[in-house]
Amino acid sequence: MSPVEAFDVVDLIRTKRDRGELTTPQIDWLIDAFTRGYVADEQMSALAMAILLNGMERREIRDLTMAMIASGERMSFAALDKPTSDKHSTGGVGDKITLPLAPLVAVFGVAVPQLSGRGLGHTGGTLDKLESIPGWRAALTNDEMMRQLTEVGAVICAAGSGLAPADKRLYALRDTTGTVEAIPLIASSIMSKKIAEGTGALVLDVKFGSGAFMQEYERAEELARTMVALGTDAGVATTALLTDMNVPLGLAIGNANEVRESVEVLAGGGPADVVQLTIALAREMLTLAGQPDADVESALADGRAMDVWKRMIRAQDGDPDAPLPVAKETHVVTASRDGVLATQEALPFGIAAWRLGAGRARQQDPVVHAAGIDLHAKPGDEVRAGQPLFTLSADDGARFPRALEALEGAYSIADSAAPRGPIVRARIEA
Ligand code: URA
Repeated sequence: MSPVEAFDVVDLIRTKRDRGELTTPQIDWLIDAFTRGYVADEQMSALAMAILLNGMERREIRDLTMAMIASGERMSFAALDKPTSDKHSTGGVGDKITLPLAPLVAVFGVAVPQLSGRGLGHTGGTLDKLESIPGWRAALTNDEMMRQLTEVGAVICAAGSGLAPADKRLYALRDTTGTVEAIPLIASSIMSKKIAEGTGALVLDVKFGSGAFMQEYERAEELARTMVALGTDAGVATTALLTDMNVPLGLAIGNANEVRESVEVLAGGGPADVVQLTIALAREMLTLAGQPDADVESALADGRAMDVWKRMIRAQDGDPDAPLPVAKETHVVTASRDGVLATQEALPFGIAAWRLGAGRARQQDPVVHAAGIDLHAKPGDEVRAGQPLFTLSADDGARFPRALEALEGAYSIADSAAPRGPIVRARIEA
């Protein structure tokens, strides 16, 4: 005989539909019953839509997060003899910051356990980028991860399927039922994985703007505040930076080319916006780990961060000195007139890179590591007629027309450009 269930899921759906609150026992039961397969996908989808439309109280979001954590394993870095600090970005175009950031923070004796994902849609995935390095492998056992954190101090690897499995199922449902954009669901999804991962401190890079998940600043801020509260309540020192994603980050969008740009930053160069954001996030991670005065700029300039990078890549069987893949075909787009590059919208550039093969449409698809876009000018730069504005790269030239279609109207040249605001717009703490 099957056990008597504590609640009726239809009652829970009705409660949220009618703007009521779910109790803690109801939420615990719901996530457990969903994980067991007792609550059907269509019931969970109806509930997700009710949550999207009617929201959740802070207490409900916290309960949902804790219930999703309880659906799987919890990692612990308590055995390490150093503090841990991690970063999570809500994703954007050209966002390669994790690559220079993890080794930079590790220079100061703070361990960085970065469990990362693959890209889906127009935002790239950190693992896809690193897999363009010959030999590098994403899958590590927990023991290998601990060893690397002890010996090197930084690890970027694939998140195992054991962390918050309820979130994995729920996220797949939300993806196919138009319910991804609910703040309670996004916040609990991200934070359940980050809290289960066991980091002591967490900095959230919450992006707003055309290339971000949250296009409006106010919604990005609400998401940031919700996640900071969740982390703090769970005992993780958590802050968030709200950062501009209206324009692609840096000059490289893709996989291998983003690794190349990250290595430039680690060598003390690289585009100003990538360097600024890397430094801002490193400072934040180190402050939360008890080192507010760490001189992060020097660690980039004098090669210490580069040393950790090379050790981190070698520890995962990659060759940091091997040549990165180069595309078979390129297509250069030039300026039609003299003037100033006035606009360069992140989302279309992300979509174009994806169409060139840098991203995937389905989780199981491969990516083309050499595909992507290299920008030769940023908004505010003066350009001359005929000067290259950006270069598309792909393994198959047949991909260029659809990528160019995505870029129609995505950039403009004018007599002047509006000044860009700072990349870091606000800092949120509990
Ligand atoms: N990333 C996640 O992990 N979950 C969401 O809901 C959205 C983005």
